[in-house]
Amino acid sequence: MDSHTEPGVSAPDRHRSEVTLRVNGKPYTLTVDHRSVLLDVLREDLGLTGAKKGCDHGQCGACTVLVDGRRANSCLLPAVAQDGCDITTIEGLAGGDGLVEGGGAGLHPLQRAFLERDALQCGYCTPGQICSALGALAEAEAGHPSHVTDPARPSGQPMPLGRDEIRERLSGNLCRCGAYTHIVEAVEDVIR
Ligand code: FES
Ligand code: FES
Repeated sequence: MDSHTEPGVSAPDRHRSEVTLRVNGKPYTLTVDHRSVLLDVLREDLGLTGAKKGCDHGQCGACTVLVDGRRANSCLLPAVAQDGCDITTIEGLAGGDGLVEGGGAGLHPLQRAFLERDALQCGYCTPGQICSALGALAEAEAGHPSHVTDPARPSGQPMPLGRDEIRERLSGNLCRCGAYTHIVEAVEDVIR
């Protein structure tokens, strides 16, 4: 017991805090351990197991979700630091929410394209690939350059995404099954 706590009064838990996360449009208020990462809170506390734990070290992209519209490796994000954030996971894409033109009832256009192009084998990396592709499309639309963008191109203007751009922008998402060719084709289908 804390030496400053009155007898019979339980010490405040210094290792846990209450946070409110808005996940796929729904608010959740929960108490999280300060050591918990967003990926574990999503999977274990909220039962959203779409985002996958691959490496748990920010190296594979299997845990990619969108935080306030930007893609992020949820295995690296302390959940307590996401208080008040808007999180989108793969579970939030079906049904369409207007994030990408053409979204409507049913599967998100990227999900449909992945199915139509057979852009997966085991599927373990797929939720991360799709969330990452969604973030990459938004970044390109906002004019963010990538490592392979022509430096002469003015930033801030929507960037056309050819194969090299798609490959580069999705290079943080590894696929151990090697479905890369079809993944790139699926993303191209959504851009067309
Ligand atoms: S599990 Fe997060 S990057 Fe691999
Ligand atoms: S489909 Fe198996 S890891 Fe990508």
